[in-house]
Amino acid sequence: MYKPDDHILVIFGASGDLTRRKLIYALRELQKLDLLPGKFAVLGIGRSAYTDDSYREMIAENLDDPGEILPQLHYLSMDPEDEKAYPGLAAHLAGMSSSMQMDPNYIFYLATPPSLYGAIPHHLSKVGLTREGGGTWRRIIIEKPFGTDFQSARALNASLLELLQEHQIFRIDHYLGKETVQNVLVTRFSNGIFEPLWNRNFVDHVEVTSSENLGVGSRGGYYDHSGALRDMLQNHLLQLVGLVAMEPPTVISSDAIRNEVLKVFQAIRPIRGDEIRKRVIRGQYMASSVRGETLKGYREEEGVPANSRTETFVAMKLFIDNWRWGGVPFYIRTGKRLPTRVTEIVIHFKPSPHTLFDELHPGHGQGNLLVIRIQPDEGILLKFGMKVQGAGYKVQEVNMDFHYKDLMDSYIPEAYQRLLLDCMQGDSTLYARGDAVEAAWKFVDPILKAWKEDPAIPLHGYPCGTWGPEVADQIIEGEEQSWRYPCKNLADDGLYCEL
Ligand code: BG6
Repeated sequence: MYKPDDHILVIFGASGDLTRRKLIYALRELQKLDLLPGKFAVLGIGRSAYTDDSYREMIAENLDDPGEILPQLHYLSMDPEDEKAYPGLAAHLAGMSSSMQMDPNYIFYLATPPSLYGAIPHHLSKVGLTREGGGTWRRIIIEKPFGTDFQSARALNASLLELLQEHQIFRIDHYLGKETVQNVLVTRFSNGIFEPLWNRNFVDHVEVTSSENLGVGSRGGYYDHSGALRDMLQNHLLQLVGLVAMEPPTVISSDAIRNEVLKVFQAIRPIRGDEIRKRVIRGQYMASSVRGETLKGYREEEGVPANSRTETFVAMKLFIDNWRWGGVPFYIRTGKRLPTRVTEIVIHFKPSPHTLFDELHPGHGQGNLLVIRIQPDEGILLKFGMKVQGAGYKVQEVNMDFHYKDLMDSYIPEAYQRLLLDCMQGDSTLYARGDAVEAAWKFVDPILKAWKEDPAIPLHGYPCGTWGPEVADQIIEGEEQSWRYPCKNLADDGLYCEL
């Protein structure tokens, strides 16, 4: 690991939730690991009237053990929408970098409402803050959501590309920052044994699940305009599909990897017309009592209209029309207020072609499973059949598994830690590229449109604490096939969930 160049990280939205909960924590971790540059400062920007000192106090109250990061935090109170404030920002940054005797390298992190993603880069550019040259660099990190549909994402890309070059734009998809998500690439491409099987000849179907046990909490106002399809599927889940399904890149470089992910997105067969009703299921959680606790329905959440038709669950079946995956269904689902928090990718291999042995637990005969657990209990598991000791040939399913927690050094960095460091080093591999974001929206758009325009497409209610609408099971093809339900002992403790 080499240290990034000296720079100032400018955070718009400096008193917001993301900055307090994730960004400063990530910086504190990077500092502990000695990965921040020798000369480094954070300049928080927002409308709130903090001074450097009161900003540091506010951060300290929100962070266990702030370590040594506080002295590096600074604050400038300004209205990010006000173009006239930007010459002052430019002067402030120039003053900071000259007093610290460092090159004026800047990262601008837009942790703001998306309505400012157009204005801030424009105003920065007007005062020359996006211009690189003479060995200095300027980068912009944009939080999700990147657009709300294909048109808006395309317009946002176009407006950014008028001001900046693609290598300066870092579009966050925090799932790509997760250690276990990156491990999908390593599992596939550093081992000789998986790749030969990783195609339509041996894979029956692929499942991607990202479930949360929490509801929308205080984010109802945002979420109601978004819904699970925009909030989770268009970005996080499709990125996972991209990494699972991509062809091997020729080298590990940001463009080589992202070219392959883009090709996957471009090959996903559009879901249109009647297929939407058949292959895409949407649901919304309803009040229920889970292990003695009464949980609100989505429509009772703060900031959510009582007649909201926003989905908090979505499941779909999709196909990737290329040589590797022709005819292999990919089932993906995500939802809030499901029984537990778990994200995993499950590769279902085809069964052996001829059944010779009795199954002790019928089910294994359906084929081996490879489970890539993204979170929690991060790890990988292969399920296969083994002979039961004793007479005859009975087969039972057993697990071969690896858990990160068993490693000597089982420290798993937070996604934002990795992503911030990568941006500081100018590496955009784990950031979404503009063309891929547009391709993902292009796939999702007809579904959003149909849901909006056709009230006959049902929105299924599901009680909190269940795996979503039961009809979601019907999109799985084949007898005796169903989603993998990763929780054990659900009746005793719904949060216990192991590989
Ligand atoms: C965010 C979504 O992008 O991802 C949230 O906006 C969701 O609604 C979150 O809860 C899930 O992230 P993680 O890392 O907890 O799986």
